[in-house]
Amino acid sequence: SAIEKGDFKHFMLKEIFEQPLTIENAFRGRINQHLGTARLGGLGIPNFELRKIKQIHLVACGTSFHAALIGKYIIEDIARIPVFAEYASEYRYRNPIIPEDTLVFVISQSGETADTLGALREAKAKGARVLAITNVVGSTIARESDGGTYIHAGSEIGVASTKAFTSQVTIMTLLAILLGRMNYLSTVKGMEYISELEKIPSKVEKILALNEYIRNIAATIKDCKNALYLGRGINYPVAMEGALKLKEISYIHSEGYPAAEMKHGPIALIDKNMPVIAIATKDPLYDKIYSNLQEVRARKARLITIATEGDTELSKISENVIYIPDTLTNLQPLLTVIPLQLLAYNVADLKGLNVDQPRNLAKSVTVE
Ligand code: G6P
Repeated sequence: SAIEKGDFKHFMLKEIFEQPLTIENAFRGRINQHLGTARLGGLGIPNFELRKIKQIHLVACGTSFHAALIGKYIIEDIARIPVFAEYASEYRYRNPIIPEDTLVFVISQSGETADTLGALREAKAKGARVLAITNVVGSTIARESDGGTYIHAGSEIGVASTKAFTSQVTIMTLLAILLGRMNYLSTVKGMEYISELEKIPSKVEKILALNEYIRNIAATIKDCKNALYLGRGINYPVAMEGALKLKEISYIHSEGYPAAEMKHGPIALIDKNMPVIAIATKDPLYDKIYSNLQEVRARKARLITIATEGDTELSKISENVIYIPDTLTNLQPLLTVIPLQLLAYNVADLKGLNVDQPRNLAKSVTVE
């Protein structure tokens, strides 16, 4: 086939390592540094109409749904427009309310997922304008939508989605900046987002260089039965994505949870056999999650934390700390997900599993 693994053992690993490039491909030509804004021509909506949008629905399945959840955090924070992120399989059958001046986005790497296509058709039947964020040019979802954006990530072969996810999140960021600049976001703030976004690819590169270190951590959790992923704020959906990656390819039961919600249930499961993987980067909720993690530690869990370079506190309570570069809070998911992808990959590979084609899963689910 034209698509080769090259020096990589699996497509998934190759795709993880492509992310400095694929993230850049998602924003290249779509940013304007001088005006501190973004441009998404494929939406086919003039700015004087776009600025009237009152509500956004982000509808998707699987990993694309996690990108939608992150989109909710980013767009609401930067553009102050209410966003609803929903599973396509639920949206299509619950008679969704779609007021005027709502934009519906369906997000699908393949552009062929049956439930996402069903949601698109449902929204169109209600007369809504439906835009698609897809990777595959000319896919059914791309063709049936009223416009949209291609993520330009190149073919994704590994069943567990990695590079498509970070590209989708990049598009969410561009959308937030574009809409934000029409409302509350100043030139100067917009410029800061753009210049920080441009630094993301080289920061991802730095995290990829930690692969061997992360593989050693993976070796310590590969035989566990369960794992808990924790995050707060915008890193909560990243915790969900980290847990999905692990369960998909290593068959270890894992859940992503908002760290503070842990005390209402999952804490009952925590003991020395439970690895807890927590995203505790420097952001406004750092002190909050730190105290959640002290609770985890008190129950003897094996605590693995993702921390910001320069953090000196988390090493006191963690078995292992994975240090990553700092960025703006809204851009953090593009960095914090990388070590979680590498952790899941290495666990599955150390277990000798079929990483690119996990049992019972398909790259694209084209039946209901
Ligand atoms: C399947 C794949 C996932 C993917 C999901 C949604 O479950 O295994 O990796 O996230 O479908 O696919 P889509 O192509 O719509 O993004």
